[in-house]
Amino acid sequence: MTDVDGAVRRLLDNTDDLLANLEQAGDDASRSVGVRLRASVVGPLQQAAGTPAAHDRADHDMPPSSEPAGPASSGSGSAVQLGDRLWELARAATELRCQQLEVPELGEAAAALQDLALGLADPSAKESRVAELAALQAGAAQQIQAVPDGPFLVTNPERLYDHLGVPIATRPLMVLCRCGESGIKPTCDGACHRIGFSTAKDPNRVPDRRDSYVGQSVTVLDNRGTCQHSGRCTDRLASVFHLGQEPFVTPSGGRLDEIVRAVRDCPSGALSYAMDTAQAREQVDYAGQREPAIEVSKDGPYRVTGGIALVDAAAPTWPATPARRGSTMRCAGAGIRRTSRSAQGCTGTSTSPTRCPTRRRRRPSSSGAAGCRR
Ligand code: SF4
Ligand code: FES
Repeated sequence: MTDVDGAVRRLLDNTDDLLANLEQAGDDASRSVGVRLRASVVGPLQQAAGTPAAHDRADHDMPPSSEPAGPASSGSGSAVQLGDRLWELARAATELRCQQLEVPELGEAAAALQDLALGLADPSAKESRVAELAALQAGAAQQIQAVPDGPFLVTNPERLYDHLGVPIATRPLMVLCRCGESGIKPTCDGACHRIGFSTAKDPNRVPDRRDSYVGQSVTVLDNRGTCQHSGRCTDRLASVFHLGQEPFVTPSGGRLDEIVRAVRDCPSGALSYAMDTAQAREQVDYAGQREPAIEVSKDGPYRVTGGIALVDAAAPTWPATPARRGSTMRCAGAGIRRTSRSAQGCTGTSTSPTRCPTRRRRRPSSSGAAGCRR
């Protein structure tokens, strides 16, 4: 057994001890912490240890948590003691994760423990604990990793906003729900494992292919496999970008500056343009000049600006190298789809028209590669 394997086992054992205490306590708050620990910590750690059968990955007999864990009297004695025990686990898991970046499940467990520990921390201790966790991750660039069949793991997020632009409190390591079923969105509460969320690519996803629409002064380039269906182009420049019509783009319908702005504003990077055969790819996402930020759109995808790296879960870099710009990623609200037809994420084909804004924008008959427009 390697040192890392041993450390994962110890973490699992310590978490199991705490779970036993919480079960003894039996109050609602302890139960809520226990549910989260089982789904978001024990399950991922078992995955990391290669022993998924040793415990249930999620507690199927327990309902999902519907709110962040509140103060628990708990079998560990008091809310303060519980917070301290969670803090020890969070610190150990974070240290471990920093040594094993290529194991996203370790990051998932560490992020959940950070969230629980900081959520229960005494206000006087909270700031120093955040600083300590940040120091453990010092030197790490902001980056987003997609955990297989799980959440997005975000390292060192600086700015996280809701759809109204209101800042959301960040942790040094966060897990953002992408199945849509979390009771504490945008944070993942482990529901993804309970429902069997799969991130496998849909074989019928929209192909990753670029189409060209030639105009007199500019050629608009569009990749349907990348589009995240924000509807910005069709909403803001309907004379050029046509919802549910062919051709999708008529460059002659707008001024050059309007088209350039539409390309820059496209949150997914699906749009680009070329003049005199030279593609102005660097203009996407305002050439990466916007502040790095993640916006949790209402019942829709995450909007990522400022060149935050999206890295392969199995091969992360540390610090992260710049990756795709202006990407947005799948549905954070509906949670109906288990797979995506888009090459990168959101398909706009949620079966919940009341929860997915993209769906409301699209023709009811539109689906799949051929019909999908926005
Ligand atoms: S993501 Fe799709 S719908 Fe949104 S602006 Fe870009 S091309 Fe248009
Ligand atoms: S609850 Fe984990 S990804 Fe949604």
